[in-house]
This record gives sequence, structure tokens and C-alpha cells, in this order.
Amino acid sequence: MFASEQGRRARSRSSSKAIAKSAPSSKAVKGRKAPLRLVPQAAELPLERGGLPPKIARYIATAELPSPCLIVDVDIVAHNFEELARSLPEARIFYAVKANPADEIVARLARLGSAFDTASMGEIDLCLAHGVSPDRLSFGNTIKKERDIAEAYRKGVRMFAFDSQPELEKIARVAPGSKVYCRVLMECEGAEWPLSRKFGCEPEMAVDLLAAAKALGLDAYGISFHVGSQQTDLTQYDKALELSVSLFRALEARGVTLRMVNMGGGFPSRYRTDVPSIPAYGTAIHEALLRHFGDNMPEVIVEPGRGVVGDAGVIQAEVVLVSQKGGDDDRRWVYLDAGKFHGLAETMDEAIKYRLLTSRDGGETSPVVLAGPTCDSADILYEKTDYRLPSALAAGDKVWILATGAYTTTYSAVGFNGFPPLASVCI
Ligand SMILES: Cc1ncc(COP(=O)(O)O)c(C=O)c1O
Repeated sequence: MFASEQGRRARSRSSSKAIAKSAPSSKAVKGRKAPLRLVPQAAELPLERGGLPPKIARYIATAELPSPCLIVDVDIVAHNFEELARSLPEARIFYAVKANPADEIVARLARLGSAFDTASMGEIDLCLAHGVSPDRLSFGNTIKKERDIAEAYRKGVRMFAFDSQPELEKIARVAPGSKVYCRVLMECEGAEWPLSRKFGCEPEMAVDLLAAAKALGLDAYGISFHVGSQQTDLTQYDKALELSVSLFRALEARGVTLRMVNMGGGFPSRYRTDVPSIPAYGTAIHEALLRHFGDNMPEVIVEPGRGVVGDAGVIQAEVVLVSQKGGDDDRRWVYLDAGKFHGLAETMDEAIKYRLLTSRDGGETSPVVLAGPTCDSADILYEKTDYRLPSALAAGDKVWILATGAYTTTYSAVGFNGFPPLASVCI
């Protein structure tokens, strides 16, 4: 079978059996109701956060999978969601669908009562197909086609993000009376995957835009920010909330009463270095809200993506080649069958540093350059970051890339160089 054909079969939802003869569950299909699990499954967590989840370890020991393939333990997704809900009881959680839109994940979170932050009509339709009512959806992308806003409105969505006057006018034209929130620019200092510059506007502009929203007949609902993804500096939420309260006051002075703060995501996965616990985020955010809003607490929304699905997933990959280049650099080059075009896009600038396990672990290790299999010279994962792998590692050996549940399948190219997209299975 050609590799691309194999990958297509693996990805096709109705054929998830093709990749997982022994898959315990992988049945939620778009447009159909997910199977109801009457007894909720307690997640089996790895000994150390971000380690290999025990259920995935058992699964990969026997399942026949194409390579590379992402395996997601949906019980860990549920565990992460519930831990965040317990840690931030004042917040309404909108799962950021873009992090991983697998049917099983959306279905499970929908059953747990999550709302959903969506970026496109595709994500809105996905959530609706899983029975999520439109009042549990926000159209959180600040860059939307007017016809998509109109379609979302027709389908019942009434909450929209914006960060500019033209976007606001589109919403006013085709989604009259909707709740709108304005995204403000953030520095995103300390985030490993910053989301600065492209999204949001300057605070002074946000004040003018929200006042304009009211004048256009929209419901000027609140403001939003994102402190950057994989944000481990908890003081960033405090800074953002300090700014938020000043915007609330400025707008009050102009006769506009805001009611909501959307704090976006930023909650981390555990990669190579330790990260604060989710309860620590809850405490820091709760204290910051009290400090800045006191008795006038707004409605609070969070939109976690990475923090819910990241450490629930593991990519199983294979070594294609181990070689050397000669000259002064005696590091081995290890080429995997998973690279930048197979979902590992967040290795751009070596920003996200994944943990690796191999089937040869335990022996002597030596430094490596790690790269993907395609003909693009950008397809190098780590060249500057110090990675060491077993000296005995050879073609055909397995490599497990940990905490890859977020921002991988959807970043995978469709058929670059004829390689199939990253296969995935939920267990
Ligand atoms: C609007 C919005 N909300 C939430 C998220 C999720 O962020 P994270 O994965 O850091 O939780 C993103 C990420 O791109 C986003 O753009």
C-alpha cells in the first residue's frame, strides 16, 4: 500500500478501525451522536505530568498503527478539563477547538458541559453536529468573512470577537444585536508560542471600538486578550486584568457598561521543563480578578486549548535514517518520519521543545540534530537546542514524541512530498 493511501485511510474517521484493530473507542463520527459512557472513566495519569500516559503505553504495545500517528487518551482530556473547571470556578470554559478538533474530543467535552471557541464555519458546524447548542459557541476569530458571520448568525451564534472597525461593521450588518467583545494587543512576554501583533488592537482603540459597537446597535459585551500560548509567567494574567479594569472604567465614563472578560488560553502542557500546576493558575487568576475588580466581578471566560489536550496525546514516529555530515560537527542527524509538515509546526524557531522517548532508551546517549523526512530544508526540528538520543538508535526504531495532543493534526500538510497527513486515533 502506498504511504499516502495508508494515511488517508487512517485519517478517515469511518476507517479508524484500519489503524487501530484494538482501539477501545474511536467511534464518534461527525453528524452522529457520540456513544454515551454511562460510567465516567477516571483518567490514568502518568507518574509525572507530560510523561507517557499508561493507557497509551498499553495501547501502542499491541495496536498496529501507521507511522507517524498521534494517539490521544480522551480520559486525560476530560481530566484536564475538569481540573481547570475546579481551579477556575468563576470562569466559563470555551474549549479552543483549533487545538484538536477530533470528534471524540469535542463529543467528550460537550458532554462535560464545555462551551467552544471556534475560528471558522468548519469548527462551528463540527460543534453543532455534536449537539452543542449555539449559545455555547463563540466565533472567536477576529478575521472573518462577512458571509461566514451571516451563516453563523443564521445558525444561532450570537457571540463574536473583533479588533477593528471594518470587522465590527461586518458584524453589525449581518449579525445585528449580537454580543461582541474586542481583543486587545498583549506583549505575550514569557510565552513559548506568543500570539502577539497579529491579534488585538491598542487599548485606546478598543475603547473607541466598543463605544462604536453600542452605537451600531450591538451588545458591547466585553474585552478579550490572550497572554500567549504556553504561558508560564502567571503575572501576565495580572497585568492583562489590570489593563482590563482600566478599559471597563474608560467605557463606563462613555456610557458603555461592559460585563465580560475573556482571558483566552495560555494554560500549558508539560514539555521538557516543569510548568506551574493548573490549580496555581486558578489561584493566580482568582487573586488578580479580586485585586482588580473587587466586588464588581465580571463574567469570566477562558479558552484553553493546549492545557486541555496537549499532554493527552503522543505521536508515535519511526527513525528513517541516522547519518553524519562529516567536517567539524560530529553530531548524528536523526531523520524521523514525522517533521514540521507532519504536525510538528510548533518546532518553528525551536519554540516548543517536545520530550522524546525511544525504543532504545537506557543506553549511552549522544547529541543529535533532529529532522523530518521531507525535501524541504526547513524541515529540521531541533538543531540549536541540545537534544541527545541513544547512540544505538537506528533506522526502524520507534520514537515517541510526548505531549503532542495540541496543534499537531491540524498543522499537518495534506500531502507534501507525497507523505500522508498525520494519522490520529483517540482511545
Ligand atoms: C482566540 C484564541 N483563544 C484560545 C486559544 C488557545 O490558546 P492555548 O492553546 O494557549 O490555550 C487560541 C490559540 O491560538 C486563540 O487564538
